[in-house]
Amino acid sequence: MKVLVTGAGGQLGHDVCCELKKRGITYLGTTSSQMNIADSTVVQTVCETFSPDAIIHCAAWTAVDLAEANAEKAFLVNKTGSRNLAIAAKNLGAKLIYVSTDYVFSGREEEIYEVDSKPDPINVYGKSKLAGEQAVQDILDHYFIVRISWAFGINGNNFVKSMIRLSETRNELSVVSDQIGSPTYTRDLAPLLCDMIETNAYGIYHATNEGYCSWYEFAKEIFLQLKKEVVVHPIVSEEYETAAQRPKNSRLSKESLISNGFAKLPHWKDALSRFIAEYQNNMEPNQ
Ligand SMILES: NC(=O)c1ccc[n+]([C@@H]2O[C@H](COP(=O)([O-])OP(=O)(O)OC[C@H]3O[C@@H](n4cnc5c(N)ncnc54)[C@H](OP(=O)(O)O)[C@@H]3O)[C@@H](O)[C@H]2O)c1
Repeated sequence: MKVLVTGAGGQLGHDVCCELKKRGITYLGTTSSQMNIADSTVVQTVCETFSPDAIIHCAAWTAVDLAEANAEKAFLVNKTGSRNLAIAAKNLGAKLIYVSTDYVFSGREEEIYEVDSKPDPINVYGKSKLAGEQAVQDILDHYFIVRISWAFGINGNNFVKSMIRLSETRNELSVVSDQIGSPTYTRDLAPLLCDMIETNAYGIYHATNEGYCSWYEFAKEIFLQLKKEVVVHPIVSEEYETAAQRPKNSRLSKESLISNGFAKLPHWKDALSRFIAEYQNNMEPNQ
């Protein structure tokens, strides 16, 4: 089995490459400078040359707020780029995993979102990621679409790293408490994606760490585990202005994982403690 990974310079792509390496699977991890996914000729050349059996597509333009004023760029990478990869997968007969997002949903519903709930994105990033899902579905008869949320991993910027940094200088801060979802530790997700490509259990999945929380609860748990005395004040989304609106309910049902024979990921608090250990190890000199 040979696996091509996009977004290898990002959080998830990095951890997927580490997992493939650990398993002794031949892989090619690509960054945007090695393979700009928006360039169909480059995608075709790289894919034909490496000839993968599977593509784990982690690359995306993930700048959620910037996307509001740069819809063209967001769609170019997230829709056209994903379309290019789906075409390459079809031509090679390779499996494709497209990593998507909770932001394909509006978050206005009260219920937990099932894999077949109706997408209705409320920001440009979510619309571009949904367009990527649709491109994959239009081109391929069989595909994996894996929606994740609130990702954090060692190789990139994320909420946990921001809170760790803020805890060095602040003893008080305000965090949004009316957006509820699930954090996803990319190091926990990577083995699941590597398991998936070994199967033919195609379909749409939701894959996050177990349990739900608000950003406020997430921040409080980060400081608790860090043993830092930072007072966290809950605020509503309207008090924290951002260019892009975020869904208030990002709770995703993971039942399709179980019904297809995959294990759920560990609880987010457990994931957080392992991430903090990984982060602190990484910070030690000579590492
Ligand atoms: N981060 C989250 O909270 C979150 C939540 C839900 C879903 N997701 C989805 O999960 C996946 C992985 O996210 P992540 O957090 O690992 O993202 P990330 O850290 O931002 O990494 C994304 C990578 O995509 C690459 N990329 C951007 N434009 C590209 C292009 N034109 N050609 C090739 N590569 C390009 C970037 O590479 P360069 O740096 O080389 O440009 C970047 O390293 C994405 O599909 C994302 O939409 C993320």
